[in-house]
Amino acid sequence: MLKDLPLITDPNLIVGMEHAEDAGVYRLRDDLAIIQTVDFFTPIVDDPYTFGQIAVTNALSDVYAMGGRPLTALNIVCFPIQKLDRAILREILRGGLDQMRAAGVLLVGGHSVEDDEPKYGLAVTGVIHPDKVLFNRGALPGDRLILTKPLGTGIAATALKAGMADPALLADAVACMTTLNGPAAELMTGTPDVHACTDITGFGFLGHALEMAEGSGVAMTVRAAAVPFLAGVRPLAEQGIIPGGLIRNRKFREKQIDVAPGCPDWQIDILCDPQTAGGLLIALAADQAEGLTSRLRAAGVAAAAIVGEVVAGPAGTIRIV
Ligand code: CO
Ligand code: CO
Repeated sequence: MLKDLPLITDPNLIVGMEHAEDAGVYRLRDDLAIIQTVDFFTPIVDDPYTFGQIAVTNALSDVYAMGGRPLTALNIVCFPIQKLDRAILREILRGGLDQMRAAGVLLVGGHSVEDDEPKYGLAVTGVIHPDKVLFNRGALPGDRLILTKPLGTGIAATALKAGMADPALLADAVACMTTLNGPAAELMTGTPDVHACTDITGFGFLGHALEMAEGSGVAMTVRAAAVPFLAGVRPLAEQGIIPGGLIRNRKFREKQIDVAPGCPDWQIDILCDPQTAGGLLIALAADQAEGLTSRLRAAGVAAAAIVGEVVAGPAGTIRIV
């Protein structure tokens, strides 16, 4: 969007806007850089406290995806104060604050604006060693791909809006969207030979995986049956209860995707489902993949799975088998 604008460059800018990275990174000293990211959106669940938790989980995720540690945050709040009860706003902020507390992040301020529809999120500042920054490029042929959360939160939210989500699916989706990526990121940064990382959000698994493949100049093979997804979303996907964003994601990327015969269509839909506060996608050396997956599962990142591999081939393409 800003590609044709004359951007300001700086020798200390480690990550700017040219690579669709998760967050900006700026070197302060040889051993210290700051990471900055911002994210806010409209409610995707009915409960305001839960919405606050989800919005914070989502906003912090880009810092974790770069291998960093979030330190401080600013609230971004839009709220129709004339139309909606103040108690709702209080619950949103309380959910957000509890999640920041869980993440060890300090709320230092914020800004609110009167608006027709509630929106909430954070501007986050984190820290990282300049040499330890993980980009969404750098994946190498032979690497394995690990995904740390199940897919399907976009389909679940769509079903909720349509009054078609059963309580078990809603509970699973909320559990997924309120799980911080911090513990998974800590295990990742403690593992040698991690080559690239990103988090799965609005472009869906395939969109973010393709950004990684494009940036790394590699191809990928994804084993659809190995990709974790929320138990209740399959029948919804089969019935076409899917978000418009999923359809756009799939259409946008279809030329870069080669689907093996026998791979069901609903599974491809799930791979394109836009996620809120989705998991980390990690590319790392093959000999580290089993170990990290076991450590993630032992630490409670139950869905963590090896979902495919990086291969030499046409850059920015994925074969789904
Ligand atoms: Co991201
Ligand atoms: Co973001």
